[in-house]
Amino acid sequence: MTDSSAHEPGAVHVPVLLAEVLHWLDPQPGQVIVDGTVGAGGHAAHIVPRLQPGGRLIGLDRDPMMLQLAESALAGTDCQLVHASYADIGSVLKDLEIEAVDSVLVDLGLSSDQLAHTDRGFGFESVGLDMRFDTTQGPSAADLLNEAPAHELADIIHHYGEERFARRIARRIVDHRPIQSAAQLAEIVRRAVPPPKGRHRIHPATRVFQALRIAVNDELGTLERLLHQTLPTVLKPGGRAVAISFHSLEDRRVKQAFRDGPWEVLTRKPVTATEDEQQQNPRSRSAKLRAAKWLGGDATETRQPSDERVRGNWRGS
Ligand SMILES: C[S@@+](CC[C@H](N)C(=O)[O-])C[C@H]1O[C@@H](n2cnc3c(N)ncnc32)[C@H](O)[C@@H]1O
Repeated sequence: MTDSSAHEPGAVHVPVLLAEVLHWLDPQPGQVIVDGTVGAGGHAAHIVPRLQPGGRLIGLDRDPMMLQLAESALAGTDCQLVHASYADIGSVLKDLEIEAVDSVLVDLGLSSDQLAHTDRGFGFESVGLDMRFDTTQGPSAADLLNEAPAHELADIIHHYGEERFARRIARRIVDHRPIQSAAQLAEIVRRAVPPPKGRHRIHPATRVFQALRIAVNDELGTLERLLHQTLPTVLKPGGRAVAISFHSLEDRRVKQAFRDGPWEVLTRKPVTATEDEQQQNPRSRSAKLRAAKWLGGDATETRQPSDERVRGNWRGS
């Protein structure tokens, strides 16, 4: 039994770097803007009024639950919500008969609303073990943990979690199969690694949970597609891309894509949350915003996806 009924979906998520998003996205009346990770509509609700008159926002999310939250937050406004990945903005626009857009925003990763649903498996105390953003397709974290060989698990935990005890943790996971809940996984990891030290202690399973979520949702591959294939084909010349990332694996990719492609980088350094915001919303502490202006150019000139490090076959098995 899951506890989804115990948690009425309510938008608990607080949008990060809101003023900074509005500054760098610079929405103007008449523009068409894609919010590629609309979530509960936190950023979108502030963008939509700035597009009037004549503009509109297209909000995408892979998670049907989040789209429901966005629908209530954005009801009555000029926006369209679509169940799709931000990597597929091109085909969404084609369906809507829109050739190119003025800006694209992505606020990567997990929403506090997804974390709050303990049947989803994103939190350390979760009763579930799913971790998919798109709950309508693809293998879950439970499938991965219970089916992948130890060396594949170790590679995932090492590369996507940057966890030094990856091999030891992977062996313990295999020894304890079947793993049935995120809480069970968190406990296995806690017992496998030395106790955390220092002032800024994090839960010992933080890196393992990050790694699994990245693997289950192919987060880095999807981000690479967005940066190298999607944005160059959907932005108008002079159009803006704004990306908020929450760990170095994402931020590094955004930084490199903007630096190496035909972009004018607008943020020389990543924009981070003020002290005030960090105190009020701890989630904002790791947020890094980068913005760039698309200078046109042939999409094929930009580098192709390069994330070939973790290639297991558990997905296909
Ligand atoms: C940090 S939340 C966004 C919060 C939103 N900006 C707000 O203020 O309410 C990230 C959202 O991105 C969604 N997501 C993750 N990967 C995605 C993808 N490839 N395409 C579309 N949505 C994605 C998640 O389901 C989640 O709802």
